[in-house]
Amino acid sequence: MLKAVILIGGPQKGTRFRPLSFEVPKPLFPVAGVPMVQHHIEACAKVPGMKEILLMGFYQPHEALSRFLVSAQQEFRIPIRYLQEYAALGTGGGIYHFRDQILSGGPEAFFVLNADVCSEFPLREMLEFQRRRGDAHSALMLGTTANRTQALNYGCIVANADTHEVLHYVEKPSTFVSEIINCGIYLFTPSIFQHIGDVFQRNQQELENSNGWQRAEVIRLEQDVFTALAGSGKLYVYKTDGFWSQIKSAGSAIYASRLYLNQYSQCHPERLAQNKPGGPIIRARVVTSPLICIFSSSARALCSAAHPHPASHLS
Ligand code: GTP
Repeated sequence: MLKAVILIGGPQKGTRFRPLSFEVPKPLFPVAGVPMVQHHIEACAKVPGMKEILLMGFYQPHEALSRFLVSAQQEFRIPIRYLQEYAALGTGGGIYHFRDQILSGGPEAFFVLNADVCSEFPLREMLEFQRRRGDAHSALMLGTTANRTQALNYGCIVANADTHEVLHYVEKPSTFVSEIINCGIYLFTPSIFQHIGDVFQRNQQELENSNGWQRAEVIRLEQDVFTALAGSGKLYVYKTDGFWSQIKSAGSAIYASRLYLNQYSQCHPERLAQNKPGGPIIRARVVTSPLICIFSSSARALCSAAHPHPASHLS
């Protein structure tokens, strides 16, 4: 039995997405015609054995989120719940705080996905890789290749080319470390909580010895957990050549839309408008909404359909 946790952050996160995220919370911002996290949910729901999806963040529960959860549960026929952190606990603190909820029902493993990425989500492949390795206690992260300059903006992974063990992990290094970067998509087994627990204990001891205001529960997977696990035989990387991109800014949301629209031609052709005799010529893909009118060069007005529709670039 499997579960998935999607880290959606909260109102103070995703500042580079402003002002777009003032109207719609960033995880619900439409990318390729559907809320950003719907792509994650769809990918998780397709994994055989997936029993529950947990959205985790520090947004106050609100109507748009509740409405989205209800409709996604109906569409993907899987229980989906929102777990609210009492404060921003970091990418590892929330899953540690809610570990009983994650472990209830006895999942053998669970995925953790950053909400602000767009990806092919090769979740099955990650599972198969992990099962083939036959090690029930190690953690797995999805990695991809970036160029030497871009890599500095991400978590960088040095791995053993044969075993795929992560030997060294540095978050946003100041000098070049590796071209393999962390995609923010992980497969954990319950044993990850021992490692996060070690960080928690250490934080508590350090806080006892100082007048620090930080909470011991604030834990970052990347800097606190992966850095420590690297080189200990407990962290592996599955490298993908599939598409992947971060969604940090409005511009990157447009790029992500393009990537998903390309994917739709394979897995959701029904979501794309088709060329029809006498109709507009579709040159490239773009998402329209009912509010958008598109004029052809001959000034023929073409209005989009009644529903927001991943349609087309019209000429
Ligand atoms: P920045 O460049 O600072 O944005 O860092 P980053 O690109 O490494 O992203 P970050 O680690 O801040 O966030 C990764 C994902 O985790 C995003 O989807 C965030 O919304 C989410 N996230 C970040 N902090 C928290 C947190 O405290 N709690 C929860 N539940 N999610 C978080």
